[in-house]
Amino acid sequence: MERLDKYLSNAGIGTRKEVKDFVRSGLVTVDQDIAKDPGMKVDGKKNEVSFKGVPVLPFSPTYILLNKPAGCVSATEDPRERTVLDVLSEAGLDPIPKGLFPVGRLDKDTTGLLLLTDDGEFAHELLSPKKHVDKVYQVTVDTPLSEKEKIIFNKGIVLSDFTCQPAKLDILSEYEAKVTIREGKYHQVKRMFLATGHTVTSLKRLGMGDFTLPDDLPEGKFVRLKMESNDHEKKII
Ligand code: URA
Repeated sequence: MERLDKYLSNAGIGTRKEVKDFVRSGLVTVDQDIAKDPGMKVDGKKNEVSFKGVPVLPFSPTYILLNKPAGCVSATEDPRERTVLDVLSEAGLDPIPKGLFPVGRLDKDTTGLLLLTDDGEFAHELLSPKKHVDKVYQVTVDTPLSEKEKIIFNKGIVLSDFTCQPAKLDILSEYEAKVTIREGKYHQVKRMFLATGHTVTSLKRLGMGDFTLPDDLPEGKFVRLKMESNDHEKKII
């Protein structure tokens, strides 16, 4: 069950304010009765909601997990570059849902987990700095790493324009590490390593919040995620 105004705006009928006005103007019916309260609860599976006599189907959001290859930009369109939507198209996503966008950005040369959705609320939950969502990256650098860098990362690296929040560094081998950060500033991981004297030569995102890059998903391929929902919560699986 959800509020009628939310149901209508999610379905693309108008902004939350516009749809409230449509309801108050008598343009919306629920099971053939003119709706009066924009806050009334409707169930898309059981109730028939219509706007100006035309049924409004429930919004069914799309959630995609892409293993982003290098050489494409995290944008929906670009005059020169190949975009992640081009990659999805080449991988067989047809049609590309209208309004699909990447949840955050990876650099053109970064590979790995990139979520795409047309659900703005879901994206906000993952991107809002207040939610402190962990992002895990696998990094290769050009010079040997040392244990003392774990402490430096954990203290919070000072960059020219901001101080990073504490980050977790796991050294995997001389030139390889896993780093977990809770922010997502522009080029952040590359800048953190540069500040400690290393140039990142490859960067791959392994996880973001509850989502992990499946080991068997090749670069350039995607999986659709499903949403499980009940009256109280929705969960993407
Ligand atoms: N940090 C970077 O420097 N680049 C990315 O693509 C992601 C995080």
